[in-house]
Amino acid sequence: MDGNGRWAKKRLMPRVAGHKRGMETVKTITKAANKLGIKVLTLYAFSTENWKRPQDEVKYLMKLPIDFFDKFVPELVEQGIRVKVTGDIDGLPEATQTAVNNAIRDTESGSGMILNFALNYGSRTEIVNMVQKIAKQAADHTIELKDIDEQIVSKNLMTGFLGDLSDPDLLIRTSGEERISNFLLWQIAYSELVFTPVLWPDFTSTTLEESILEYQKRDRRFGGIKK
Ligand code: FPP
Repeated sequence: MDGNGRWAKKRLMPRVAGHKRGMETVKTITKAANKLGIKVLTLYAFSTENWKRPQDEVKYLMKLPIDFFDKFVPELVEQGIRVKVTGDIDGLPEATQTAVNNAIRDTESGSGMILNFALNYGSRTEIVNMVQKIAKQAADHTIELKDIDEQIVSKNLMTGFLGDLSDPDLLIRTSGEERISNFLLWQIAYSELVFTPVLWPDFTSTTLEESILEYQKRDRRFGGIKK
C-alpha cells in the first residue's frame, strides 16, 4: 500500500494524512475484493523495516489499526470477512495487539474473504524463523531431514495457516515502485506482478478491477509449456 506519503505531500499535508486516507482505501478495497469473490486479500501495512521511520509516524501507524477495527469490525462481521495477521503481533504496542487480537476473535466465524494484514512483517525474518522451527523439529527427530520438502517449508512460514491459499496469484504494488521490498519472497515464486503508478490513497475498486484484468491476460505456465 505504497504512496501515502507522496499523496499527502502533493497536497501540502503531513505524511500521516496520507496514511489516514490510505486507511479509507483499505475499507473500500476490502469490500470490493470480497464482492469480487477473492478468497484472500493480504495487505502490507507495516514492515519490520518501517520501525526506522520518525517516531511520530510510527506512533500514528500503530494507532491506525485501533481506529480501523473500532469502526469497521461490525461491517466485516456483517460481510463474513475474517481478519488475520501475518507478522510478529507480540512486537506491536499493547493497545495495537489488543485491537488486532479482538478483531481476529470477533470475525473468526465468518465464511467470506480472509483479510490478512501483514503487520510487523518481513519476509527474511519469516524465513529465518521457518528455518529455526524446522531445524528444531529435525533435532528433536519430530521430522527427518529427508522429509523436509516445499510443503513443510510453506507450512512453517507465517502464512502456513492459509494452506492451499498461501501463495498469492496476483501481487499489486502501487505508487510506481517496482520492487518487492521483503514481501512474501517464498510465496510469490509464481505470482503475477502488477505495478501501477496509482498512489494507494487514489486506488479504487476500478484500479483493482483493471489490475485483475491485466492478471487475466497473463499466461501462467509455472515453468511448463503450453499444451
Ligand atoms: C507506505 O506508504 C504505507 C505504509 C507504510 C502504511 C500503510 C498503512 C495503511 C494504509 C493503513 C493500514 C491500516 C490498518 C488497519 C493496518 P509510504 O508512507 O511509504 O508512502 P511514500 O512512499 O509515498 O512515502
